[in-house]
Amino acid sequence: MAYTQITTSLTEGILLITINRPDKLNALNYEVLEDLNKATDEVYTNPEIKSAIITGAGPKSFVAGADIAEFKGLSVETGAKLAARGQAIFKKIEDSPKPFIAAVNGFALGGGCELAMSCHIRIATPNARFGQPEVNLGLIPGYGGTQRLIQLIGKGKALELLMTADMINADEALRLGLVNYVVSPDELLAKADEILKKIGSKAPVAIAKVIACANAYFTDGVDGLQYEVDRFGDCCATEDFQEGASAFLEKRAAQFKGK
Ligand code: COA
Repeated sequence: MAYTQITTSLTEGILLITINRPDKLNALNYEVLEDLNKATDEVYTNPEIKSAIITGAGPKSFVAGADIAEFKGLSVETGAKLAARGQAIFKKIEDSPKPFIAAVNGFALGGGCELAMSCHIRIATPNARFGQPEVNLGLIPGYGGTQRLIQLIGKGKALELLMTADMINADEALRLGLVNYVVSPDELLAKADEILKKIGSKAPVAIAKVIACANAYFTDGVDGLQYEVDRFGDCCATEDFQEGASAFLEKRAAQFKGK
């Protein structure tokens, strides 16, 4: 796949996606968003890819937000279109049947925080900084920040961050549950790999259903418990369920095929 703003590499089924605009702190311009969309499509469709990590190039920034240089001249219509496009791409990441981890190696501001929050798990380095500073620009988050921040850390603290534009450090993000781990820069990708390899040893269809059920909790009009009942039923029809149960009873490691 040809990309201009990101790089990708596939190792043992894990696609490493690196946003590669370090001179602009990896800000999300139009091309970065479209590259991220294509890479997400690749995760969905390439059977060799089992999971993905998103990180930023350079030592300083994951993503310092949407590209503010592209904001000039936005109107009601073009602004809403931009937000809808970003939201659609981030929703695709959130809905991916294969897990995404955000490896946050520095600033995760605005769209960067929103991108990290659309991933299933977040790991940060000690220099990471999280925030939604859009109100400094007379804006609000447009790529899901007002919704996912509340989902992850609760309404009171989320509203404080959304209204003050304060940045929080990695330890505070860990305390609030915004990130799962804080590790040194040397360990960042290894920790993401370790988690994804562990998830990769489980039944892929079951993993996809877990993600779908977790997202159902936050979907209006969906009865999450009923949704879980139905997905549990789906799992019972898979070869992997037969294999998993047999392997347990035969005291051997299961060999899952994702079927
Ligand atoms: N959009 C476009 N360019 C950005 C950017 C963004 N969101 N964030 C950083 N950059 C650019 C800067 O303009 C600068 O470019 P230049 O060297 O051509 O002037 C370069 O990245 C380095 O940023 P700089 O501000 O010099 O680094 P810093 O270490 O002094 O400050 C930040 C880092 C993250 C605090 C600061 O860049 C910042 O506040 N960025 C905007 C964050 C934001 O509001 N994001 C939400 C957007 S909706």
